[in-house]
Amino acid sequence: MSSSPDVLSSNYSASNSVNPDELARRIAELGDWFHNLDLCGVHTAPDHFLGDFPNVKWKDIAKEIPDDLTGASVLDIGCNGGFYSIQMKQRGAKRVLGVDVDDRYLNQARFAADTLKLDIEFQKLSVYAIDEVEGQFDYVLFMGLFYHLRYPVLALDKVIKKVKHRLVFQTMIRGSENPFHAEPDYKFWEKKIFLQPDFPAMYFIEKSYSNDYTNWWIPNRAAVEGVLRSSGLQLFSHPEAETWICTPHHVLNKGRYILDRELDGTL
Ligand SMILES: C[S@@+](CC[C@H](N)C(=O)[O-])C[C@H]1O[C@@H](n2cnc3c(N)ncnc32)[C@H](O)[C@@H]1O
Repeated sequence: MSSSPDVLSSNYSASNSVNPDELARRIAELGDWFHNLDLCGVHTAPDHFLGDFPNVKWKDIAKEIPDDLTGASVLDIGCNGGFYSIQMKQRGAKRVLGVDVDDRYLNQARFAADTLKLDIEFQKLSVYAIDEVEGQFDYVLFMGLFYHLRYPVLALDKVIKKVKHRLVFQTMIRGSENPFHAEPDYKFWEKKIFLQPDFPAMYFIEKSYSNDYTNWWIPNRAAVEGVLRSSGLQLFSHPEAETWICTPHHVLNKGRYILDRELDGTL
């Protein structure tokens, strides 16, 4: 475990015998859960509006992740209650680090890992500060966060610098779910193309969507795929409608990360 002061220690210790009533009481004490975890038979969010979430997504994504992750390192950005961190650790990953900005979710994730007796690090950290985490990780999970950011592509390009092997990327999508094959160039007066529903688009939410004012930019499928490719990633698989598994391909431009060249105006 990291000794950084930002790594909050758990308020909870794993219990040897699990009393379901006591477990349910402690789960309730930790506030509303977004992740429906199965903690020794007690569920943390059984009435989730998206069903058994995120199991409903994981059942398809899981097939694209090796069953045996022995020795692998995993960084889970926007880890929430720790569902994906737990899945990766249960597949044998050596080091799993989950980061999030919300103490409620971090405390839930710590409690879940303690209850399941899994050694997972959880740290309070924003995706925008991800470069404070040293080194690269075999698997980086950037799921359910892109559309919550005012600066989504900046965050993505920061995240990419942390990826050694695979990026698991998930975002809400709206609009067309068709892929789009862009021409190498368009004339200045080509305006009709922008009216095609399949053309890459990010929908900006000025006020609120789904009762959440942090839903800022919601891409259609073509925009997701275009942004991922233009950030230098190769799209490796698309296990379900909102998830892409990518591998670093042309993430360097003249020997430097795209982000660094863009920020100093030399891209
Ligand atoms: C919709 S949830 C997705 C949780 C999980 N990754 C999943 O896919 O189920 C978004 C999560 O991102 C976290 N978050 C929001 N802004 C963040 C930021 N700037 N850096 C890191 N995490 C952030 C929220 O606290 C929340 O836990």
